[in-house]
Amino acid sequence: MPTLMRIGNHLLKNRLIVAPMAGVTDRPFRQLCKKLGAGMAVSEMVTSNSLLYGSAKTARRANHEGEVDPISVQIAGADPAMMAEAARHNVDRGAQIIDINMGCPAKKICNVMAGSALLQDEILVARILDAVVKAVPEVPVTLKIRTGWDREHRNALSILNIAENAGVQALAMHGRTRACAYTGDAEYDTIRAVKAAARIPVIANGDITTPEKAQFVLAYTGADAVMIGRAAQGRPWIFREIEHFLNTGTHLPQPEVSEIHAVLLEHIHDLHAFYGDVAGVRVARKHISWYTRGLVGSSAFRHTMNRLDSVSDQLNVVNEYFALAARADNRLRYENNDENNNTQDLPVASRLAA
Ligand SMILES: Cc1cc2nc3c(=O)[nH]c(=O)nc-3n(C[C@H](O)[C@H](O)[C@H](O)COP(=O)(O)O)c2cc1C
Repeated sequence: MPTLMRIGNHLLKNRLIVAPMAGVTDRPFRQLCKKLGAGMAVSEMVTSNSLLYGSAKTARRANHEGEVDPISVQIAGADPAMMAEAARHNVDRGAQIIDINMGCPAKKICNVMAGSALLQDEILVARILDAVVKAVPEVPVTLKIRTGWDREHRNALSILNIAENAGVQALAMHGRTRACAYTGDAEYDTIRAVKAAARIPVIANGDITTPEKAQFVLAYTGADAVMIGRAAQGRPWIFREIEHFLNTGTHLPQPEVSEIHAVLLEHIHDLHAFYGDVAGVRVARKHISWYTRGLVGSSAFRHTMNRLDSVSDQLNVVNEYFALAARADNRLRYENNDENNNTQDLPVASRLAA
């Protein structure tokens, strides 16, 4: 089993990657995941429509100040020339890896024949990959796909072939088809088949929620790395938990309440600074809810917290909740008493912000 993960000239510190999630993997969250154990984090998708480069949202998504290497930026779109231009634009602003989104099932994206809809048109896939690779010869280009358009059209192997011929340097695969959206369980047989045929590193993605599952998926598929999305929401320390388990076969204890309190406060401060107070409070609400999901006594806290609009009220109520939690136990305590609390249902697709 490979133990090192390399993308182009970037040797990752481990085989654990944060999945791109629109509305989630902004710079503060990516930084935090990297600090707490992830080897790499892919940005939220950035549009390839240059008319939007000036918008606050797109400019914010191209801001990598202080971000730890390697900086991977995902671009989305369906026009080869625009995708090439977007890749260039982002590399000129600090991207060290360009990731192409052919995995997102969101209607807003698929209706313009981007994201996973592209998997239906292999000629267009080839044109986009060629154009992007040529536009940024100095950085590696990676591709993220689903297993195919629907269960009858699982064309991941032919997409792999196209990607390798174009010079793509790693392939991330979510073990569902576009038609599956987020229903059913991710399957790993297609990922295993693609890995067996691949000359480039393959990253397995889909429903990895525990250290055991990460170990299983790495072993079963032979993938070079795993990519984790929803299970990292509110639990950015999942990466160090998985790394510890892969290295030792044992579990880390639940983190101390005081540590997670400090992590969350730093995260909230970063969000307020990154988005400004008004939007920052709104974005932080979502993360605070995820951090406290399943913790003893947390639903009443969330009910109150979600109604607060000011920075100081938000910070005060978080401080109060964690002070109470620390009095009850010095480690995080979950309602279901599950040691790792990773078996809870993953957030549903309705959370898909893209
Ligand atoms: C809120 C949300 C936003 C997402 N946004 C993107 C995106 O911008 N680009 C992309 O390629 N995939 C996106 N995805 C898909 C994830 O990268 C990942 O493939 C999927 O969630 C399966 O992994 P998981 O089971 O570990 O969550 C998104 C998923 C979620 C839940």
